[in-house]
Amino acid sequence: MKIVSAEFLTSAVNPGGYPPGNLPEVAFVGRSNVGKSSLINRLVNRKGLARTSKTPGRTQLINFFTINDKFLLVDLPGYGFAKVPEEVRAKWGKMIEGYLKNRETLKGVFLLLDCRHTPTSQDKQMYQWLLHYGVPTVVAATKIDKLSNNQWAKQQGVIKKTLPLSPEHRLIPFSSETGRGRDELLGVIKNWIHN
Ligand code: GTP
Ligand code: MG
Repeated sequence: MKIVSAEFLTSAVNPGGYPPGNLPEVAFVGRSNVGKSSLINRLVNRKGLARTSKTPGRTQLINFFTINDKFLLVDLPGYGFAKVPEEVRAKWGKMIEGYLKNRETLKGVFLLLDCRHTPTSQDKQMYQWLLHYGVPTVVAATKIDKLSNNQWAKQQGVIKKTLPLSPEHRLIPFSSETGRGRDELLGVIKNWIHN
């Protein structure tokens, strides 16, 4: 799939703020700092489209981007960031769950995991939740440029076992530094939005 245009559309906290229309939509979930915003920028090859940061908790709203005037990509706030006050975390949790539950145009979700880390209980919960609600899901392991092939061979076993990854789900290594995994993810999106 060729990306010819990528534009910020709007930000929202609740369903009233979601953009109207019926373009198909694909969302990205995962822990704070896992690389959701960077991944979106790499997918569309537009560096500053989604705001990224070394400090976790950068994305605090649901951000919608229009791609090729054909579909939307949705950048969600990250979960699991300990430094955010409890009430803010609860609000973010509600925002994410509310979105995933209520968005009728949502065609699929990428769950992002840092390739170096064992999935946390919140990662496991999010994954189970997506399975439970039958949301088409693909898991992507971010920051793959930080591991050697050998390390990844071992680490992917840990991720699959801990989640535990269901046999019908894919685990795609991705790097927003090198672009590894980009074509695969675009292929997945193409499938989802044509359904
Ligand atoms: P929140 O908005 O806080 O939930 O974070 P996020 O998941 O959107 O993460 P973001 O894209 O802002 O990236 C967090 C940090 O990880 C930044 O310093 C990025 O430069 C870095 N990063 C993201 N992806 C990669 C990657 O593929 N490789 C490497 N080496 N660094 C990455
Ligand atoms: Mg972000």
